[in-house]
Amino acid sequence: MKRRPLLAGNWKMHTTVIEACHLAAEIGKCSADLDDRDVLLAPPFTVISEVAHVLRESRVLIASQNVCWEEQGAFTGEISPTMVKSAGGTAAIIGHSERRQIFHEDNGMINKRVHGALHFGLLPILCIGETLEEREAGKTFSVLEEQVREGLGGVSSDDMRKTVVAYEPVWAIGTGKTASKEQAQEAHAFVRKLLAEMYEKDIAESVRILYGGSVNPDNVDELMAQADIDGALVGGAALKAESFCRIINFT
Ligand code: PGA
Repeated sequence: MKRRPLLAGNWKMHTTVIEACHLAAEIGKCSADLDDRDVLLAPPFTVISEVAHVLRESRVLIASQNVCWEEQGAFTGEISPTMVKSAGGTAAIIGHSERRQIFHEDNGMINKRVHGALHFGLLPILCIGETLEEREAGKTFSVLEEQVREGLGGVSSDDMRKTVVAYEPVWAIGTGKTASKEQAQEAHAFVRKLLAEMYEKDIAESVRILYGGSVNPDNVDELMAQADIDGALVGGAALKAESFCRIINFT
């Protein structure tokens, strides 16, 4: 099955309003002719609406970097799916390793966020990935299986069709140490096989699985050439228009 590539930039805790508008405008320009792939930006909450405005005539999709399961209420520091949508977002990154490691979000909370996003019509991008310690202890696949099964607990087949998974080995994030194409492909194939056990085979074949962790202009082509890698979730290299434009124009 042919899956439409999705190239996503996660700006993390970077960009003031002015910086965000400049960067978004550059990316809008260099993505204008790309009609065979999706390009997505996840700016900080404070600039979602400005970035969406700058890109209103482009095909670039906007995501939040996290999302709450409630529509509103006493949840200081959170953002609701309705707020993301009203600011111009259509997707949400959920369970990023920085949320898991630094802010101690567990699979149960991440699962609630996935349901919240789906319930309010946002496309969830569920991030999974093992730490170096887990990889060295031979636990990579058991960790990924637990994150996938628990993160997607109770997600229906219909909703799974709208869900994206991002495999991001923690040891490759922000370290300049990318997983080899073989390591990444092996993990992606494992996740797809697992999805085929949990859902119908055609769903497993249609779900996009992104790779994240030190993706850059020099390694994107070989990563994207792997059978089960359907896109990239890019951090550092998404903060410079030049490198992100090269990445989204992968061949
Ligand atoms: P990186 O981050 O590209 O800077 O490694 C990827 C991510 O955290 O999504």
